[in-house]
Amino acid sequence: MERPAAPAAHEAAEIRLTITSPEQMRELGRRLAKLLRAGDLVMLSGELGAGKTTLTRGLGEGLGVRGAVTSPTFVIARVHPSLGDGPPLVHVDAYRLAGGLDEMEDLDLDVSLPDSVIVVEWGEGKVEELTEDRLQVVIHRAVGDTTDEVRHVTLTGLGERWAEAGLETLTG
Ligand SMILES: Nc1ncnc2c1ncn2[C@@H]1O[C@H](COP(=O)(O)OP(=O)(O)OP(=O)(O)O)[C@@H](O)[C@H]1O
Ligand SMILES: [Mg+2]
Repeated sequence: MERPAAPAAHEAAEIRLTITSPEQMRELGRRLAKLLRAGDLVMLSGELGAGKTTLTRGLGEGLGVRGAVTSPTFVIARVHPSLGDGPPLVHVDAYRLAGGLDEMEDLDLDVSLPDSVIVVEWGEGKVEELTEDRLQVVIHRAVGDTTDEVRHVTLTGLGERWAEAGLETLTG
């Protein structure tokens, strides 16, 4: 079989995974966290209950941040400081963020966004302008799946940052 060419700098790096339990989703988050660094933006999409917050919980564990990640339903964003010397995790629920980026900057998060890992649920059309490099994670349930714990996850790394970031290590 022909070996696929390495993606060009601005081509998207994309992987697809099948996840079969909430624990496995969390484990994916813990493993993905090892690839993340300050300034990264991760956008999570998927219907209600898809597993966006479950994945973020794993990210928080993998990053070693303080506080349990929960659904930020009554706040727009929550900052989880690092317990070590890593970046803080800023977990955003953009559902009620009408104004996009400007509103994000007005939140007075007491943290510098370029120094943080930012994870946004429901951010489509609202936070893309934060950075042109971003990781888009789409989670969906397969129609007609016999078990309701199966999720299909597509991770798409956009921009130079993700071209050589090692996303493919998550498939192993
Ligand atoms: N494979 C799976 N991955 C993640 N969660 C799963 C999986 N199978 C079942 N679940 C269950 O689905 C629910 C996912 O909830 P979660 O809060 O993570 O979703 P969400 O996408 O953040 O929803 P919302 O849009 O309301 O924020 C949990 O109750 C979890 O136990
Ligand atoms: Mg959620």
